[in-house]
Amino acid sequence: MSRSWVLKLFIFIPLSMSAFTAPAGDFVALVQSCEKCHGKDGNSTTPDVPIIAGFSHEGFLNTMDVFREDDRIAVEFHKPGEPETVMNEIAKSLSDEDVQNLADYFSKRPFKPVQQNVDTKLAQRGEVIHKKSCEKCHNENGSEPVDDAAILAGQWTPYLRRQFDNFLSGKRIVPRTMLRRIKKLSKEDIEGLLNFYASEGMRNRVSEK
Ligand code: HEC
Ligand code: HEC
Repeated sequence: MSRSWVLKLFIFIPLSMSAFTAPAGDFVALVQSCEKCHGKDGNSTTPDVPIIAGFSHEGFLNTMDVFREDDRIAVEFHKPGEPETVMNEIAKSLSDEDVQNLADYFSKRPFKPVQQNVDTKLAQRGEVIHKKSCEKCHNENGSEPVDDAAILAGQWTPYLRRQFDNFLSGKRIVPRTMLRRIKKLSKEDIEGLLNFYASEGMRNRVSEK
């Protein structure tokens, strides 16, 4: 009982003392809480965790909404020594204002494509499928953030591979047109696409230098 009072006192004093600067300070802390998993400026260095920099503002908002609505069920994830966390719970804990500010912040950070191994033959197979079925919504070989479609080129492959499983199992609700196209793909087609997006990431990385 008395412990909780002590805790409350400790929480209240710093908050009230920093009342003037609280929003900015709180926002920095909030961004840092995301960066713990998603990396500096949202450029994740963990293959299981997506890069969240450089999405469109609208796309970022849409993603947070689908987590809040449970239209997308995220994996449980934890950093070593820390408790398991699910993106759905994180998204639900944020105010609308936080979500707007986070969308502003992360959409303005540059997306840095990651360097990954590529099987060239599979990537060629993926390119053909992408051009035919995916380019319409994932422009410039999946490297352009368009409306609510995410960036695919240079996103972490293990993360993207899990998303294909999620689309097919219904853990993640996506546009019907997209799902119809995904359902037609063989396992090898999916590996082809994953290699294609990894190779496009490498290409963009080189041309940026
Ligand atoms: C404990 C680790 C962790 C923390 C902290 C965390 N995330 Fe995530 N986040 C993840 C994981 C893991 C995924 C991928 C979930 C999945 O596979 O569906 C994810 C997915 C996302 C996505 C979807 C990306 C995409 O390509 O669709 C967004 C956006 C996102 N997080 C934003 C945030 C924001 C903003 C914060 C801070 C308020 C945050 N995350 C904090 C682990 C975390
Ligand atoms: C009708 C437009 C449309 C088409 C066609 C389409 N997509 Fe998408 N895609 C989207 C949208 C919108 C999202 C974001 C969905 C969401 O989470 O709300 C998305 C998300 C994704 C993601 C998840 C990215 C992430 O960061 O988690 C992958 C992977 C993906 N699409 C692959 C494909 C592939 C492969 C094809 C072709 C076979 C394709 N899409 C065709 C609109 C489309």
